[in-house]
Amino acid sequence: MPTYDFIVIGSGIAGLSYTVKVAQHFEDLQIPIKIALITKTVAEETNTKYAQGGIAAVWDSEDSFDKHIQDTLVAGDFVSDPEVVEMVVREAPERLKELIAYGTAFDRKSDGTFDLVKEGGHSDKRILHYKDSTGNEIERALLAKIKSFTSVDFFTHYFAVDLITQHHLGEKVTKDTPNKQCYGVYVLNKKTKKVETFLGKTTLLATGGIGQVYQSTTNPTIATGDGIAMAYRAKGFVQGMEFIQFHPTALYNPGHKPSFLISEAVRGHGGILKNQDGSTFMERYDERLSLAPRDVVARAIDSEMKINGTDHVYLDTRHIPKEEILQHFPMIYAHCLQELGIDMATEMIPVVPAQHYLCGGIIVDHYGQTNIENLFAAGECSYTGLHGANRLASNSLLEAIVYAHNAFEKSVSQYGTQNIPAGIPDWNDEGTRHPEELVLVTEMARELESIMSNYVGIVRTDRRLKRAYDRLELIYLEHEELYKQSRITVPLCELRNMINVAYLIIKHARAQRANKGLHYNVDLK
Ligand code: FAD
Ligand code: SIN
Repeated sequence: MPTYDFIVIGSGIAGLSYTVKVAQHFEDLQIPIKIALITKTVAEETNTKYAQGGIAAVWDSEDSFDKHIQDTLVAGDFVSDPEVVEMVVREAPERLKELIAYGTAFDRKSDGTFDLVKEGGHSDKRILHYKDSTGNEIERALLAKIKSFTSVDFFTHYFAVDLITQHHLGEKVTKDTPNKQCYGVYVLNKKTKKVETFLGKTTLLATGGIGQVYQSTTNPTIATGDGIAMAYRAKGFVQGMEFIQFHPTALYNPGHKPSFLISEAVRGHGGILKNQDGSTFMERYDERLSLAPRDVVARAIDSEMKINGTDHVYLDTRHIPKEEILQHFPMIYAHCLQELGIDMATEMIPVVPAQHYLCGGIIVDHYGQTNIENLFAAGECSYTGLHGANRLASNSLLEAIVYAHNAFEKSVSQYGTQNIPAGIPDWNDEGTRHPEELVLVTEMARELESIMSNYVGIVRTDRRLKRAYDRLELIYLEHEELYKQSRITVPLCELRNMINVAYLIIKHARAQRANKGLHYNVDLK
């Protein structure tokens, strides 16, 4: 059984920036350590890769920390933790400087200063970006940096199944058990189809979002909530799962999953939302018009589509000069043209809201520590208190680098203090067999997406939530039976995780008795 000093699960911005920092720290001290970086497909396939708009930080002298703090609190409907908001906003410029030092190229103006842009809910221009492919650029720079460290063993196509805790030593672990500890993770090697035991003194969950739980999402297929489900099964604490962010402007292209995003930065550049008859509507909902926070805009679009009986609205960019479109949005321009034959310089873009981001997740303190010792979480799978009931645009990449840094500081300060007990067993799959009917898994996943999209979407009711709960329970029972009999596969495990996550979303949504931010229940009016 290999033992690692650090195990990092996830190769998005959170996992990579934590790995770079830990590896660099021990290299500088000339202390030999071992880091396992585990990711379930190829290194690049993450939510991070698809981030378009950019990353928020105060750079301009006209802007201020107070304004960024206030914008974050307002967008979050004052559910955010003010201390966390202040900490993240103030740390932002330092962390951004590090990304730049690692080689990330943010766009600059001809005078050399950053080309800062504005997005919904921001009172100033404070988004740094690389054209409309910011995440891909950050991911590129971090992956290049990782290659320089000999301490990092990179395991691609390895799927983390379950965290190892005292439970695996035969002890009873409940959510009230004090001093719960994490000793590593069981991981399915997708090539050999065998489950391997990775022992780890410190483990970081950086497994990203949950988009695949919904029919229509901007998230790639890796986003199945694995880290949250693993932590929950290990009796980790989870919060805020009712706050599911729907991005107002995903490209309307039925049957395509994931949905292609039309960045909020397009509205920041003057793009205007319109009904199918060409009339504007945002003035009836919010004085900030198309640049109101996402919860407001997504609900407005949902309401217009219901009133008019349409399945999408339009984003009008025809008044923006074509050179500007090509300069700032080359990827979006090319995608609309190639996929739908739409030239956004002369035609309106059909758009519809799609699931985009999870504001809730595994509860962590300011250092990314969970309630389980030696287990940290960072990025979209965590609940830090920054986003509250609704995330401000471009604050997610920011949260990930700030918490990766804080978790790095805390976890290296604990280096050398952890012991892994003897007797941790290998994965036991005795009595199981290869699943014969994979169609059952595909069908259950389809049913689950449909339940979540129909009953736990932008607008909720008590009855819809109850119906979702009842329907999900049937899927849960059916899946449990199949899981117990089967040798595990990735689809089977992902479905198990999605059922866990869907359960948490519904449970938290039913328990939330106030309309806050992204949680909107008609019965609570
Ligand atoms: P991810 O980048 O999603 O990485 C998760 C990693 O975990 C992946 O490597 C995955 O393979 C791995 N993983 C998951 N489960 C397992 C498992 N069981 N075993 C092994 N590995 C596993 N935010 C912004 O701030 N600005 C933006 O402009 C922006 N634009 C966006 C555009 C799109 C289309 C999308 C989808 C999101 C956008 N976001 C944006 C949100 C932001 O990109 C994500 O919240 C952020 O990148 C999450 O980073 P992460 O490191 O937490 O997770
Ligand atoms: C976008 O480009 O609209 C996405 C920004 C974000 O999710 O923060």
